[in-house]
Amino acid sequence: MADVVLGIETSCDETSAAVLVGGSGERPPELASLVILSQDVHRVFGGVVPELASRAHLAALPAVVERARAEAGVSWSAIDAVAVTAGPGLVGALLTGVVYAKALAYAGDRALIGVNHLEGHLFAPAVEDPDLEPPFVALLVSGGHTLLLDVPAWGRYRLLGATRDDAAGEAFDKVATLLGLGYPGGPAIERLAPSGDPARFTFPRPMQSHGFEFSFSGLKTAVRHAVHASADLARDRADLARGFQDAVLDVLVTKLARAVAATGYQTAVLGGGVACSRALSALAAERLRGHARVAVASPRLNADNAGMIARAGWWRLGRGERSDWRLDARADLPLPGLEPSSPTPHIPTPR
Ligand code: KG4
Ligand code: ZN
Repeated sequence: MADVVLGIETSCDETSAAVLVGGSGERPPELASLVILSQDVHRVFGGVVPELASRAHLAALPAVVERARAEAGVSWSAIDAVAVTAGPGLVGALLTGVVYAKALAYAGDRALIGVNHLEGHLFAPAVEDPDLEPPFVALLVSGGHTLLLDVPAWGRYRLLGATRDDAAGEAFDKVATLLGLGYPGGPAIERLAPSGDPARFTFPRPMQSHGFEFSFSGLKTAVRHAVHASADLARDRADLARGFQDAVLDVLVTKLARAVAATGYQTAVLGGGVACSRALSALAAERLRGHARVAVASPRLNADNAGMIARAGWWRLGRGERSDWRLDARADLPLPGLEPSSPTPHIPTPR
């Protein structure tokens, strides 16, 4: 069992390091520090530029890691394992973290564990909530992924459904661009939506009536048509943001509730950057009341961060797993322990 784990995350545009301490035996580990440096260089381009992300990670990693160590109040010799995101993500960005982690592990004779970024998002609520244990259903919603999972045990993931086109976060970002809001779009839309009229724009809820799969590209097109039809975007902006956000959250939570009903589990986990949305967690809690409790981490642990990576790595290290020096970055790294979906009987959604 590793006592002090250093986590490193560089899969996209956040350079992050964290230190997780303790947790031997039954005792859960504690997050001793978490440093997140969000790269500002992409803002002017309206999206992440991969090559710039890699360069910015390289420049920032030494200082970010040292800061996480110092804030945790641990010496270098106390750190006995390094957990690093090995994928999925931007391959050049991932590579900077993987190489840095390997060097730290090799130089200090530390254990090394490569962590799947999506598994990290699943573990995020467990950093703050030591009682969180499977079985649960999980809705993983980020800029690159939209997954609904049945999690009977840590490390065992059954895919219930995924998006057929855009990820939920991607839809937020694209619609924000259409509305002339900044990047990333999710927080901008969430800030604007409460002042919008919910009755002015009722956008389609794609694939809502059945199954566990998602589709957001048609919704995005519907918003685009409404934007083009608007005679005064400044006047309509908040109403459009409200109509769009209500549609996305309605679809996400309807499917989550359907998964809770299908599995009979009493816990639903929200993870990924879109889970920073308080509107999402509030709607999920409201619709699942009496059926399941909603577990969601605080925003700094839902956005990309090394705390969740250290936590997932700590769990894998505790099972005796180690990566060797061949650990490589993979843009399309599959979730370990992912079983394909199997047909689930039609079960009505609780309301
Ligand atoms: O997990 P994450 O930080 O990065 C990826 O792994 O993709 O997710 C980023 C995504 C972005 O698309 C961003 O717009 C979205 O999460 N997001 C939100 C909110 N905060 C971040 N979407 C909706 N509402 C929010 N409050
Ligand atoms: Zn992420």
